[in-house]
Amino acid sequence: MKQKIALVTGSNKGIGYGLVKELAKAGYEVWLGARNADLGQKAASELGDQVHFLPLDVTDDKSVTASAKVFAAKRDHLDLLVNNAGIYLMGKDGLPSTTSIDTVKEVYEVNLFGPIRVAQAFLPLIKKSKEGKILNVSSGLGSLGLALDHSPSGLAGVNILGYNSSKAALTMFSALLSNELKDSKIAVNSICPGHVATDLNGQSGHLTVEESAQGIMEFVNRDGFTTGHFIKKGGEHPW
Ligand SMILES: NC(=O)c1ccc[n+]([C@@H]2O[C@H](COP(=O)([O-])OP(=O)(O)OC[C@H]3O[C@@H](n4cnc5c(N)ncnc54)[C@H](OP(=O)(O)O)[C@@H]3O)[C@@H](O)[C@H]2O)c1
Repeated sequence: MKQKIALVTGSNKGIGYGLVKELAKAGYEVWLGARNADLGQKAASELGDQVHFLPLDVTDDKSVTASAKVFAAKRDHLDLLVNNAGIYLMGKDGLPSTTSIDTVKEVYEVNLFGPIRVAQAFLPLIKKSKEGKILNVSSGLGSLGLALDHSPSGLAGVNILGYNSSKAALTMFSALLSNELKDSKIAVNSICPGHVATDLNGQSGHLTVEESAQGIMEFVNRDGFTTGHFIKKGGEHPW
C-alpha cells in the first residue's frame, strides 16, 4: 500500500509532537510544521527519517503560501492535514466583560485564522489525495452546549473569551467546510484532544501527550467516510 502523507501544524512540542510520533509509528510520512526553524528541525530529527520539518507560521500569509509551495515541489498530494497549532494566553485571556479586544484578536489569529489559512493553502494538494482528510484540533471549551451546561459535566465555569470563542468558530469552520467538500469526499472534522498536560495550560491536564495522541489516532485510523463531526475520545461533543 502507498505510504500516506500527513502534515501537522505547530508540532515541535505538545500534542502535535506526540501526534507526529504516532503517525510516523503508524507508517505515515509526516511533515512537522513549526514556526521556529531550530525547534522544528530539532523535533523532526528526533522522530526519524519519515518525519520532515516544514517551516510554517500559521499567522503569516507569506509563510503559509511558501510552505505550501515548498511542499508541492516535493509531493503531489497531501492525505491528512491536522490543524493543531494553537495558543491560550494565560493571564491575559479570561472573562468576557474585561478581556481586551487585542487579546481576542491575537488568539483568533492563531486558533481560527491560522487553520483557515492553512486549509485554504493546502486544499489543492488535499484534493489530489484519494482519501483527503482535514482534522481541526478544537476543544470542549469551544462547545456552545457545554458552555451553557452548569452541571458537573458542563464547562459553564470556564469563561475564557478569546480561547473558547476561537474554538467555537473553528468548529463552525469545520462544519461549513465539511458541507462544501462532502461531494469531493474530503472529510473535515473537529477533534478535542482531551485535557492534556502541555505548556499551553502550565502542564495542568490529566492526560499525557502520548495518551491524547493515541486517542486522536483511534479516529484517524477509523474506517469509512466520517465528516462534519466534533469528536472526543469515545464519542462526540455537543456543538
Ligand atoms: N492541552 C490541552 O489540554 C488542550 C485541550 C484542548 C485543545 N487543545 C488544543 O491542542 C492544540 C495543541 O496544543 P498543546 O496543548 O499541545 O499546546 P502547546 O504544547 O503549547 O503547543 C502548541 C504548539 O502550537 C505552536 N504554535 C503556536 N503559535 C503558532 C503559530 N503562529 N504558527 C505555528 N505554530 C504555532 C507552538 O509553537 P511554539 O513552540 O513556537 O510556540 C507549539 O508547537 C491547540 O490547538 C490547543 O488549543 C489543547
